[in-house]
Amino acid sequence: MAEQPENDPGTLLSSYDMFSPEHERVKWGVFEHARQACPVAHTDADGGGQYVITRYEDVRRVLEDPATFSSAGVAPRPSPVTLNPLDADPPYQLDLRKLLNPLFSRTFLMKFEPQMRKSATALIDNWVSRGRVELISEFAAPFVGSVLAQIVFNETDSTKMQRAIEIVTAVALNSDDESYFNLASLAAEYIVEREDNPIDRDDVLNAITTGTVLGGRPLTEDERLGVVTVLFLGGLDTTRGAIGAIAYHLARRPELEHRVRDPKWIRQDMDEFIRLESPVGCLGRTATRDVELGGVRIKQGEQLLVRFDSANRDDTKFPDAAELRFDTVRSGHAGFGLGVHRCLGAHLARIQITIAFDELLKRITNLRFASGGPADVHWAPGIANGPEALDLAFDLV
Ligand code: HEM
Repeated sequence: MAEQPENDPGTLLSSYDMFSPEHERVKWGVFEHARQACPVAHTDADGGGQYVITRYEDVRRVLEDPATFSSAGVAPRPSPVTLNPLDADPPYQLDLRKLLNPLFSRTFLMKFEPQMRKSATALIDNWVSRGRVELISEFAAPFVGSVLAQIVFNETDSTKMQRAIEIVTAVALNSDDESYFNLASLAAEYIVEREDNPIDRDDVLNAITTGTVLGGRPLTEDERLGVVTVLFLGGLDTTRGAIGAIAYHLARRPELEHRVRDPKWIRQDMDEFIRLESPVGCLGRTATRDVELGGVRIKQGEQLLVRFDSANRDDTKFPDAAELRFDTVRSGHAGFGLGVHRCLGAHLARIQITIAFDELLKRITNLRFASGGPADVHWAPGIANGPEALDLAFDLV
């Protein structure tokens, strides 16, 4: 029998490692092969191994059946803190969502619009005269960091707010243990402060310190910290990645700029970018019973890696799925998830992306790669999909 080369998609699939930069570079080919030949594929990577779920219909089935596919073990690597509601199941998860959903509705979030625009323009002021920017570290990361810090901590003292923004932005920029530790300490401070001095104000801290779950019990200290942690884990790399991915496409295809300048782009075109690039690539589930999926028998307790990104490029659901298509309505993409865990921050992400490009395109035009080309852009391995850095040149409007 002919020997299979190491980078053959079939060979790679059985050892596919989402944290490997080499595997990241070839993952679209690996998933395409999987969807056709082995849609529920076992990989030995990362310890105990897991089933990689690659077809849209299987991904949908898993996400819509939380009783069989529990969100326990949602993080592909164990997390030192609880990540509720992300790692929880109904009914507890639904109770938490009831507490949080009103604070992430579009109407509620639009109260923060003036502050969001102020953050965006202040960042653009720092580099616009240069004609060149590293868009991720000089705009996308600090922008999403400052917006999320303002929404979660809702601080009225401007000095304290600035400190919180700096701590959250360090996480958005570095994602390292030290910055997460500083953020967890800050979150714990804010929670204790609010417990000791309750304020009757509609915000996240009030919801988690006064709200109840499961028939009336308050959240424990760990659960409160878990909510704040998951908001930052869920809201920073994701929206940063989405802004970076859209800017990458604008630099690659200048003819797209006019679409993004049209306010109508937020109705449909924004979702097409999110479908194609899936800023959240994957998350995990655990089988609660023996079950068959895509012709494969999965045993109770086994781990699944649900690939939102592969589902979003499944040609049987989205014809010509590897391309941006603005001439057709592509409904039902899995970019914000499907089922009970559908993204809590989807409205926030959409508002931030809208404001980011609105403010950028008021000042700059003709985005292009300042060094190298599209093939030189590195996409980070791991859960989030997005360019690690984006060195762009532009003209002034
Ligand atoms: C473009 C940006 C974003 C994308 C693509 C995205 C994607 C997702 C996906 C795919 C899920 C489902 C997870 C699952 O089924 O296990 C999810 C859940 C979640 N997202 Fe987002 N997200 C984005 C922005 C945000 C933001 C800004 C926040 C901050 C509030 C956020 C907070 C959350 C939370 C808390 C959950 C868990 C919900 C639950 O378990 O009930 N996300 N997101």
